[in-house]
Amino acid sequence: MSRAKIWTVLMLACAAPVFIATPGCEVPTDMPPGNGNDPVYNNTTDRTNNNASFLGADACGACHPGIAAEHSIHAHAFQLNRVEGGPPEFPEEADRAGVPNPPDGVDWSQVSYVIDGYTKSAQFIDLDGFVYVTGTNGLETQWNLEFPPNGTEAGFVEYESGRTTPKPYDYESFVRHTTGPQPFDADNPMFQENRPGFAGTWEEAGVQCEACHGPGSKHVPNPPARNAFVDTSAKFCGECHSQPFDSDGSAIEAVDGFIKPYAQYPELLASGAHAALSCLTCHDPHKSVTYDRENALRKTCQDCHPTQDMARHQGLTFVRGDYVEQLSCESCHMSFAARSGSQGAVDTVGSVARVGDTRTHIFRINPSNTDFTAMFNEDMTEVAKDANGRAAVTLDFVCLRCHNGVGNAFELTVTSASAVTATMHPDGP
Ligand code: HEC
Ligand code: HEC
Ligand code: HEC
Ligand code: HEC
Ligand code: HEC
Ligand code: HEC
Ligand code: HEC
Repeated sequence: MSRAKIWTVLMLACAAPVFIATPGCEVPTDMPPGNGNDPVYNNTTDRTNNNASFLGADACGACHPGIAAEHSIHAHAFQLNRVEGGPPEFPEEADRAGVPNPPDGVDWSQVSYVIDGYTKSAQFIDLDGFVYVTGTNGLETQWNLEFPPNGTEAGFVEYESGRTTPKPYDYESFVRHTTGPQPFDADNPMFQENRPGFAGTWEEAGVQCEACHGPGSKHVPNPPARNAFVDTSAKFCGECHSQPFDSDGSAIEAVDGFIKPYAQYPELLASGAHAALSCLTCHDPHKSVTYDRENALRKTCQDCHPTQDMARHQGLTFVRGDYVEQLSCESCHMSFAARSGSQGAVDTVGSVARVGDTRTHIFRINPSNTDFTAMFNEDMTEVAKDANGRAAVTLDFVCLRCHNGVGNAFELTVTSASAVTATMHPDGP
């Protein structure tokens, strides 16, 4: 159904003889921003909020406690964590989060910060601001969190084993992990905390309130002036959620036969009809999809695709050892085609299936009898697109994730999966 039609249906359902608040008749959020029904934000252009200065997230929480509580379990808040002699502390809700120990041979007193450690994996930074890499000392320096969908168990793995020189945690690295980042240059010839590996500075560790709303010193003393920046475009989120940082989103970068992390913006642009959506159509910007899944999404697939069925998987449950997954639209249309820290091993997903640890936003599935090599360009550095700029995910990422003979789903090959995909949605879109 087109968005225009959905809007009409909503309007009809909401037409009541007396003008009273009818449940479900709030402003529809499936409309792209700018249609006149969205809240009107006061400052949508000046990211400096009139040259204000940064106050830190605690200051915002004083008047916005609800949003602060939501944000306090979002991965944004934990992209960079200060170490004070022991492991960083994470909220209780985050059951998979945490880094029990630094790498072998390293003591917590030799660690200044931990990068992430909240949803997928963690790296460790030394007291001089350099990231511990395997190549310089032979140690396994990346901690992978447990990741049940691909069978990864918590533990240390190699990180940059080919690198023999110290790895500075430079602007390119911290720009996505901090609030108020500034590169080291003539205007800012400074190293954060005087640690030489930190080439540049930041105001607050993690992606906190002012990373998206700009510095708050002119908003707080005078809230009615609403001097707080808000940008609702996909391009805005895409600054961090694209490779390289702040790209135009024209390329979905890939490595080792997986999409690189931070690809959501270029993926969405290559998803066909969804390219017109904002991230905020589906996402609440303050709520975690990992640790607050029930509340984080504003729209389900069925809200916009009310007649689409479950493609012969209605009510089915996938089981592999302790891992249990209720089949959903996302099970097939948002497979783990991107890889951040880990991928499924042969004993959990077989030798043909491809299972990374980050869901794709390409949504479209390529039903052809072709393997993953057809999903990428010739040198496997980018996802290939058709003449209309659309990408599509191959069946070794989609169906073979489950149908590989290890769990309770019978084994399929790309060829046998392809033979049934054409008739998977008998009811049509
Ligand atoms: C002293 C209380 C107070 C503090 C502290 C505060 N806010 Fe607000 N904020 C408000 C009020 C009240 C409004 C609603 C203003 C209105 O609509 O008149 C608001 C509105 C906003 C808006 C919406 C702006 C718009 O155009 O509608 C954003 C975004 C925002 N605040 C972010 C922040 C951030 C980020 C911080 C921390 C730097 C912060 N606030 C700290 C009271 C506060
Ligand atoms: C990743 C970016 C991001 C971060 C981090 C973020 N916000 Fe927002 N916030 C947004 C966007 C985008 C909107 C407006 C659009 C929407 O909600 O769809 C918004 C809306 C708001 C609003 C106005 C609308 C409302 O729901 O009342 C307030 C107030 C606000 N944010 C405060 C905060 C505070 C306080 C924090 C930190 C605890 C914070 N935000 C962290 C992106 C962010
Ligand atoms: C300053 C950089 C930055 C900006 C701006 C940003 N993000 Fe993120 N976001 C990150 C990083 C880094 C992660 C963690 C890595 C990952 O999961 O891909 C993340 C994670 C997320 C997650 C997973 C959260 C969880 O707890 O499971 C969602 C959802 C998300 N971002 C949505 C958004 C949306 C929507 C916007 C725009 C309103 C946005 N981000 C803007 C850096 C950013
Ligand atoms: C059509 C709806 C939709 C749109 C549009 C959308 N997302 Fe998502 N996003 C989802 C759903 C659904 C999930 C997965 C939730 C789950 O894991 O069950 C998700 C998950 C994520 C994750 C976590 C991925 C992972 O596996 O770690 C990030 C990060 C994210 N989205 C960022 C974005 C950004 C940035 C944009 C805009 C460029 C965006 N999303 C647009 C629906 C959407
Ligand atoms: C805000 C509304 C909205 C949401 C939410 C939404 N879609 Fe869509 N989607 C559309 C529209 C509109 C189209 C184009 C018309 C159509 O095919 O029905 C579309 C098209 C598609 C297509 C075909 C893409 C192409 O152009 O070839 C797929 C696949 C798809 N959606 C899957 C999903 C899945 C899976 C979800 C949930 C994660 C989802 N959609 C959530 C609005 C939405
Ligand atoms: C078992 C896997 C699977 C599940 C579950 C699934 N789909 Fe699909 N879907 C597919 C495949 C495969 C295609 C591609 C068919 C083709 O191109 O021949 C597809 C195509 C689509 C399309 C494109 C239009 C079309 O019919 O060609 C839309 C939209 C869509 N699905 C939405 C959904 C929604 C919404 C849900 C959840 C209610 C869902 N799908 C559940 C496998 C699945
Ligand atoms: C998240 C896991 C998962 C994914 C992804 C998945 N399936 Fe399944 N599928 C299952 C499970 C579990 C069953 C039930 C198996 C059983 O009862 O023997 C099933 C059953 C089936 C059936 C039999 C359904 C019927 O009508 O009886 C077919 C055919 C099938 N899958 C094909 C596919 C294809 C093709 C894809 C990719 C487009 C796919 N599946 C993706 C888990 C999955």
